[in-house]
Amino acid sequence: MDAAYKKINGDHEPLKEPGTRKRRGSMYLEEETDKTSEVISCFFSLKEEVGALAKALKLFEAKGINLMHIESRPSRSNKEQYEFFISVDPSCSQALDEAIDSLRTQISGHVHELSRNKKKDTELWEDILPWFPNDIQDLDRFANQILSYGSELEADHPGFTDSVYRVRRKEFADIAYNYKHGQPVPRVEYTEEEKATWGTVFKELKSLYPTHACREHNRVFPLLEKYCGYREDNIPQLEDVSRFLQACTGFRLRPVAGLLSSRDFLAGLAFRVFHSTQYIRHGSKPRYTPEPDVCHELLGHVPLFADPGFAQFSQEIGLASLGAPDEYIEKLATVYWFTVEFGLCKQGSEIKAYGAGLLSSFGELQYCLSDKPQLMPFEPEKTCLQKYPITEYQPIYFIAETFEDAKEKVRRFASTIPRPFTVRYNPYTQSVEVLDNTQQLRNLAESINGELSKLCEALRKLE
Ligand SMILES: [Fe+2]
Repeated sequence: MDAAYKKINGDHEPLKEPGTRKRRGSMYLEEETDKTSEVISCFFSLKEEVGALAKALKLFEAKGINLMHIESRPSRSNKEQYEFFISVDPSCSQALDEAIDSLRTQISGHVHELSRNKKKDTELWEDILPWFPNDIQDLDRFANQILSYGSELEADHPGFTDSVYRVRRKEFADIAYNYKHGQPVPRVEYTEEEKATWGTVFKELKSLYPTHACREHNRVFPLLEKYCGYREDNIPQLEDVSRFLQACTGFRLRPVAGLLSSRDFLAGLAFRVFHSTQYIRHGSKPRYTPEPDVCHELLGHVPLFADPGFAQFSQEIGLASLGAPDEYIEKLATVYWFTVEFGLCKQGSEIKAYGAGLLSSFGELQYCLSDKPQLMPFEPEKTCLQKYPITEYQPIYFIAETFEDAKEKVRRFASTIPRPFTVRYNPYTQSVEVLDNTQQLRNLAESINGELSKLCEALRKLE
């Protein structure tokens, strides 16, 4: 269940586990640390005179300190002084204290410690940044962090007084609650009443898609009918659809027991995981649902997640959210709202719908392409500040030029989020790599190098 119909931000504290982000890379292989950072560094200045450095070095030698690195330069602030930068082994920490005291008292040296039991900037940030999942298995933890359970209905919900419906909702919520990554999504035997509700929604929306949906949606929809059981008399199984999506773009569905916070929901997208409801709206009002349901997910979201460009665009929003401050989570959730949920896009001389909230609403799909709403170009910096209603048709829609263009704009927007690192998704290990050290950058460079070699080889063969 995405946060689209409820709160933008969760009101629970994201679970913090200091140190878990140290494991960067696959879930079994520890990333090699940068050995050059495992030293204590000092900076000291001495009056320029013959033998001054020799005296200082003798102090270090007397304390048994092994200097691993030394540099010197004339002082910029005092022409009569020379500056020295040294690095020593961390095991010499106590001896270094004594040597520094001697430098100050015996030689009048000015000493500045650059690193000593200090964390790197990124590690300091880790203590104050919100926890975020490192690999795809970490998403299992969201199951216990829902804001409300899927069977807790609001008083104005069409199924509020229907005890049978409420029991049914609890069954779906329990399936999701017990779900773990890697398991097949349990199959559900939908009732005749549930199938009838689906049938009404399916039939009406399908009649509008050729004229109102974007070409990406229309290209995928017949494939879903062919391979995933999309029919008027059948509610497709999440497991079948998830397998189809994985084959198309690597996206997968996982059931969710209730409402996730925006932070958790967006984090799933970073791993190409979409948290999906499995229950269906109440049969008394097939054209209305106050929350996402299986019609919204399967008819609105799924076709677009099978499109490579849109899948990458969605993942960019997810990656941008990892470790982002709360205010930026709200901004990203708003960007998500006006794109993945309620986005319009240019296609030739026409405007079409690609947002799932539109593609799963017979009424709003027609309304959004009428002359009633206001249309604005999609600019993340502006779009992210736009207020919106959640219980009525949108008064404003934002138009993307293309998914590629929208993706680049989200990337640029993401680069303005105050984070001390950049993240990259590794599809082989299904984990997020935090690009904040030389080893990670070396891995990335080698990966790009390999891809470029293939590109050059392919170009040569074409020539
Ligand atoms: Fe949605």
